[in-house]
Amino acid sequence: MDILRTENMTKSFGGVVANNNLSIGIPEGKITALIGPNGSGKTTFINVVTGVHPITSGKVYFKDRDISGLDVNVISRMGIARTFQKIRLFENLSVIENVLVARKPFYKSGPISVVLNTPKFKREERDNREKALELLKLVGLEDKAYDSPTGMAYGLRRCLEIARALALEPQLLFLDEPAAGMTRDEFKVIMDLIIILKERGITTLLVEHTMDFIKAVADWVYVLNFGQVIAQGKFEEIERDPLVLKAYLGEE
Ligand SMILES: Nc1ncnc2c1ncn2[C@@H]1O[C@H](COP(=O)(O)OP(=O)(O)OP(=O)(O)O)[C@@H](O)[C@H]1O
Ligand SMILES: [Mg+2]
Repeated sequence: MDILRTENMTKSFGGVVANNNLSIGIPEGKITALIGPNGSGKTTFINVVTGVHPITSGKVYFKDRDISGLDVNVISRMGIARTFQKIRLFENLSVIENVLVARKPFYKSGPISVVLNTPKFKREERDNREKALELLKLVGLEDKAYDSPTGMAYGLRRCLEIARALALEPQLLFLDEPAAGMTRDEFKVIMDLIIILKERGITTLLVEHTMDFIKAVADWVYVLNFGQVIAQGKFEEIERDPLVLKAYLGEE
């Protein structure tokens, strides 16, 4: 079953058709990759599906519910999380606080219990900290919990971004070039993490340029060019597809 699917989804920016009539299914519990040359519409796909940009035409369904046009916050609370191609962190907060802020939708205590520091609020605080530490451990950042993210290695900052996305306890996770700028070791951490997430039942859509990464983790690959799907299949199938080779070579 597809946890998310788009039906003839189109997104235009003025005269640029960034997503052109896309009908894409993301199977539940699997790792799906979305690849394609620069400017082919990958990030736009994530932005439209998660409600960052309004859709121009077509539909988006999450677990068979039409979510096209819903607010970005409503969509994230439904269980869809994402990371950004350009890392977004709170530089003035510590690593763990960055994760805690992302858990805000889970806080049930009202402002009064917060101010009075009631037992209920204290318990909630403690539970959220435990959860945040567990996530930091998962991405290999537990010993940096109380450091500032500023000045941390690029790959570690990316790991923190992923921990922040996971703080929403998503069912569906969009990762926009998670391995960009990473060292080989950091890259390995992310690759292992994606496999662990799959074992935990989280569905991932991975946008990546690193083909080794796609080959190692993706169950299914969609290839975009000029906003359209030009090929889909297992990595070994699309890797030799003449249309795919042409799209990538045409770029060089
Ligand atoms: N906010 C925007 N306003 C105007 N045009 C945009 C906007 N976002 C994307 N575009 C255009 O839409 C097209 C697709 O861009 P998009 O960022 O989705 O590509 P991409 O596949 O993610 O590329 P990359 O691999 O470089 O990240 C490009 O022509 C881009 O210039
Ligand atoms: Mg992009």
